[in-house]
Amino acid sequence: MSNVFNPQLIDRFGRKVDYLRISVTDRCDFRCLYCMAEEMTFLPRAQILTLEEIYTICEAFTELGVKKIRVTGGEPLVRKSLLTLLEKIGRISTLNELVLTTNGSHLPQMATDLKRVNVKRVNISLDTLNAVKFKEITRTGNLQQVLLGIEAAKQAGFERIKINAVILKNRNHNEVCDLVQFAIDKVIDISFIEEMPLGIVNEHDRAVTYYSSDLIKTDLEQCFSLIPSIEKTGGPSNYYYIEGTDTRVGFISPHSANFCSTCNRVRLTVEGRLLLCLGNEHSVDLKQVIRANPGDKNYLKQVIIEAMKIKPEKHEFNLEEQPVILRYMNTTGG
Ligand code: GTP
Ligand code: 5AD
Ligand code: SF4
Repeated sequence: MSNVFNPQLIDRFGRKVDYLRISVTDRCDFRCLYCMAEEMTFLPRAQILTLEEIYTICEAFTELGVKKIRVTGGEPLVRKSLLTLLEKIGRISTLNELVLTTNGSHLPQMATDLKRVNVKRVNISLDTLNAVKFKEITRTGNLQQVLLGIEAAKQAGFERIKINAVILKNRNHNEVCDLVQFAIDKVIDISFIEEMPLGIVNEHDRAVTYYSSDLIKTDLEQCFSLIPSIEKTGGPSNYYYIEGTDTRVGFISPHSANFCSTCNRVRLTVEGRLLLCLGNEHSVDLKQVIRANPGDKNYLKQVIIEAMKIKPEKHEFNLEEQPVILRYMNTTGG
């Protein structure tokens, strides 16, 4: 139960929320074809939270028991003065983990600073090791730059580095063993993600390109021996170890292995919407709350506690139909 001495965020289904994902920008230097349309209109400045406002909200959440904050985008590292925000969040003493999800392109210049401001772990998107395919999938990205970013992250010495690979049939499904071998060589982890139907994409039919975690696992078993692991990171991945290595392989399976019953997270969009579930539109406008009641942190915390009542039980994704959720992944960072 939530009380003033030991405040906690608990929803109607008894799930405790102790993980906040914040999207600090909807912009990105890539245009991954499963994430965005080729032509995108990004939010005007007046509509997005200032860094101070984001900090105020993070502080309120940590006072309500949040222990893990993941910074996402779009691409978080394109937000100006991000390091100043991270430095402040990184100093919140009750926070266990400040972590980041990035496309990696700015890591060559920024990895050392991110480590300095207390970012513990980074997740880096990498769907292919083929430069031509990489350009096709990201539309504007450069593979070499991301590989340098992964190297820079390694040099900076984060506790763990994880690659995220979204697998699409007939685009990169034949690369799963190569991607795992890459992770083994770099002594990092990797998660394979089933594509989610968020926003309308026009380059492929998501029902046709669906490639399940089970298929990926079967493919991997041709090359490696996978040992189930009970380790959890607080995220949705089910992990396996690759025998004889320190590499963990995770499967994020929103379609084939729903993980909603253990959901521990909520999201803040850069517009200040507190989104209670990635696969639903239930939300509360925290920007309005803080702009109408400046300095009133208790009221903000009360609104956040109340918001838990509308956290949906689960997402319902249907790849056969047009997406019900029209927002693209860049507004939530996953
Ligand atoms: P750690 O476990 O902390 O390493 O992070 P993570 O894997 O949860 O975070 P990351 O930002 O790397 O997300 C990887 C993928 O998991 C993204 O595609 C997210 O959209 C997906 N994901 C994370 N949380 C949820 C969730 O609550 N619901 C759904 N459907 N997908 C999620
Ligand atoms: N479905 C699944 N994963 C997606 N990502 C972006 N869009 C989608 C989608 N529609 C992934 C990115 C990144 C992570 C945060 O989300 O590849 O690794
Ligand atoms: Fe950018 Fe990440 Fe979306 Fe790719 S998946 S366009 S890198 S926000």
